Amino acid sequence: MQENICGKPCFKLETGLSENNQINIIMISYKELGLVNSREIFKKAFDGGYAIPAFNFNNMEQLQAIVSACVDANSPVILQVSSGARQYANQTLLRYMAQGAVEYAKELGKNIPIVLHLDHGNSFELCKSCIEMGFSSVMIDGSHLPYEENIALTKQVVDYAHQFDVTVEGELGVLAGVEDEVSAEHHTYTEPDQVVDFVTRTGVDSLAISIGTSHGANKFKPEQCTRNADGILVPPPLRFDILEEIEKRIPGFPIVLHGASSVPQEYVATINKYGGALKDAIGIPEEELRKAAKSAVCKINIDSDGRLAMTAAVREVFATKPAEFDPRKYLGPARDELKKLYMHKCEKVLGSAGKA
Ligand code: G3H
Ligand code: 13P
Ligand code: ZN
Repeated sequence: MQENICGKPCFKLETGLSENNQINIIMISYKELGLVNSREIFKKAFDGGYAIPAFNFNNMEQLQAIVSACVDANSPVILQVSSGARQYANQTLLRYMAQGAVEYAKELGKNIPIVLHLDHGNSFELCKSCIEMGFSSVMIDGSHLPYEENIALTKQVVDYAHQFDVTVEGELGVLAGVEDEVSAEHHTYTEPDQVVDFVTRTGVDSLAISIGTSHGANKFKPEQCTRNADGILVPPPLRFDILEEIEKRIPGFPIVLHGASSVPQEYVATINKYGGALKDAIGIPEEELRKAAKSAVCKINIDSDGRLAMTAAVREVFATKPAEFDPRKYLGPARDELKKLYMHKCEKVLGSAGKA
């Protein structure tokens, strides 16, 4: 902290120099908040054959669950904020919550690496605003744009972000499903022949790819799946052949997997048992994610599973204790269930437990 001209304490201004020698100033650097960017943790994840969990949050209970789970599991973590989350919760509050998360983790006994990341940034202005507010990492998602426009937008964000040592995730290929207001009916798998050009011309620090995952709780139609011996629907496998081709072309480069919720069927059953109406909810099998985490995939994004865990717990309380009206009595169990889920992801799926 330093003093401004009226003698009131203020945060140190951080300056950066763009490629064309323009001086840029941000009010607060993530480094002062105790956050880290993704560079170091991705390198360790790549070398160690595991993936860092990227969990979305919109409210206090989700954040508490993420932090306490990752502290208990001793896992690094990426806190993801979508533009929808910014609108829902207020960007200033979210930033202070992330700052609070760093202190909360220390209070719980472990100074785990915490990244504050913009999920699916769709414009330069949004990424810039997040960087100015203390985000340590941003995603610029130009995957719906024509290739050259994706490159130009991504490079613009990288040039700005790198002045402040903020890391940038780009995306090539389109996931089927809905993300914020954009939706695509079919996957456009990442084209391995484009990745070297994209990564070198943009300067991104990590690359999100499309190999068959998708956003939301309905990732596959039942008719795309086969039934195993226990009668459980098994979706078509991810395109690991495409991932391998990508790894060959950009060896050592961190890859990101979006749309990686597994849609636990016990949550779907609980939700439907207590009045919900989830139909054909099918996710990515955990074994596939475990396999991905051992490869160049260094970041795995999970949002929907948390939504399902919370909803199942809240519905159960509402149905079994109809007289209850204290929010702590249903948000508390939801938070407990979330924590269990996140610990399971770190320990049994991503392999990030013990790596903080
Ligand atoms: O990829 C999308 C994430 O699940 C965030 O979802 O935009 O509804 O917050 P949201
Ligand atoms: P899920 O909907 O599978 O949880 O994916 C989340 C995601 O990719 C956030 O960017
Ligand atoms: Zn996503």
